[in-house]
Amino acid sequence: MASPAKAAAPKAAVAKKTAAPKKNESALASGANAGKGAGSNAAVDIQPRLNQQQNAPMPTQRYGTVSQRLPIGLSESTRQESVTMLNQLLADTITLRDMYKKHHWQVVGPTFYQLHLLFDKHYEEQSVLVDAIAERIQILGGVAIAMAHDVAELSTIPRVPRDREEAPIQVSRLLDGHQRILKNCHDYADKADECGDDGTNDLIVSQLVRTNEMQVWFVAEHVVDSPLTQAE
Ligand SMILES: [Fe+2]
Repeated sequence: MASPAKAAAPKAAVAKKTAAPKKNESALASGANAGKGAGSNAAVDIQPRLNQQQNAPMPTQRYGTVSQRLPIGLSESTRQESVTMLNQLLADTITLRDMYKKHHWQVVGPTFYQLHLLFDKHYEEQSVLVDAIAERIQILGGVAIAMAHDVAELSTIPRVPRDREEAPIQVSRLLDGHQRILKNCHDYADKADECGDDGTNDLIVSQLVRTNEMQVWFVAEHVVDSPLTQAE
């Protein structure tokens, strides 16, 4: 238990702090201490250091390089090869993810409700993949591609028009995107395996291949010309 003397100490400190602003009332009124802790400790400058990007120093790491910071038992050449492959998968996965959201917003027709919901579900699942790929790149010592303009330059998925398109066209574009990613996945999984990068091989096979194949199934079945009411 605290002694009476100790228990009384904080009250004195509080009284001292609350009394301090009175010293600065004239400075506050004139605005002379803008950026200072207004109403509290004027000796501490709370002004954020803004616009530091205008005189940015050299970047902490250049895109396209790999570091050996993390001790994960992989050589520089293996990391470099995996990072290059993963950035390609990342750019294509970001593009496919965003295509899902575009089509989620713009879809019309008798299958509107199910496609609207399905496209958003796949968008969320692709977002999980995006994060997993990007974080794998960072673990390997690389720099993950991130911004839309850089993604657009690197992606192998053909540019999608801004216009609203019919649902079967949306589905065809999505299936083409999935197939491009899956073909790369099979190639890259083999290469990662040959280099001994088990983590990258596992990410590609267990997460990317499985998720993309499942999504292909759910999307492709929407463009089967199956009778609705009368068997043919
Ligand atoms: Fe939505």
